[in-house]
Amino acid sequence: MLAAMRNIVILTGAGISAESGIPTFRASDGLWENHRIEDVATPQAFRRNPALVQRFYDARRAFLGQVEPNAAHLALARLEAEWPGDFLLVTQNVDDLHDRAGHTHLLHMHGELNSALCTRCGAARPWRGPLLGDPACPACRQAGGLRPDIVWFGEIPYHMERIETAIAACDLFVSIGTSGAVYPAAGFVSQARHAGARTLELNLEPSAGTPLFDEAKHGPASVLVPAWVEAMLASR
Ligand code: APR
Repeated sequence: MLAAMRNIVILTGAGISAESGIPTFRASDGLWENHRIEDVATPQAFRRNPALVQRFYDARRAFLGQVEPNAAHLALARLEAEWPGDFLLVTQNVDDLHDRAGHTHLLHMHGELNSALCTRCGAARPWRGPLLGDPACPACRQAGGLRPDIVWFGEIPYHMERIETAIAACDLFVSIGTSGAVYPAAGFVSQARHAGARTLELNLEPSAGTPLFDEAKHGPASVLVPAWVEAMLASR
């Protein structure tokens, strides 16, 4: 079965970065780093209390300096480098751990912590420091317009056309470390099945979407993903 696979689309979520030390979103207390999601991850929250939201994402951005890609990130980078067919990695994560593992076919559908979006000129630019304090936009030079380049609830995810085109042409769709709770990403598995692809879930535990997959394996990403990549590459 593996030998017939050529085009792969992989979707990752917070679970792949959990073993690097980045907390997932839907922890048992229902809070994200001690905040309700609607207080930090909506355009309304940003309008209501921009300083709180900037401080929250500034802390997440600064924390990236304390974490490293884990065995699962590294295995996916190896798969991209060695896979002879088409490969696309779509991540819901805003951390830079896939980037640092080394990818050329990577799309951040929910934005990136290391990017700032100017609400005045619309430019998105690489950004490493804090956004609190209204720094000037590197593109238009105006101060007071920069916000985290994060797709908040109620906003439209990035790269949807490219993602849906790749899913329509894939032979294998793999979902790794995501709860399947947030659309449109949660709907990718159904689109892939509709396109005739095999579908595989790799997650710590059964997720809301598990029944939608042809196959599911449950365990930590740092174990499951390297083993799966090894099997894929051995099948070429
Ligand atoms: N290995 C594999 N999976 C894991 C691990 C691990 N070590 N640890 C946790 N998981 C799984 C959990 O069981 C859960 O199913 O990862 C999943 C994480 O789910 P969420 O916290 O809901 O994260 P995610 O699916 O990425 O959230 C989607 O929601 O809040 C928004 O925009 C945000 O991109 C995010 C989106």
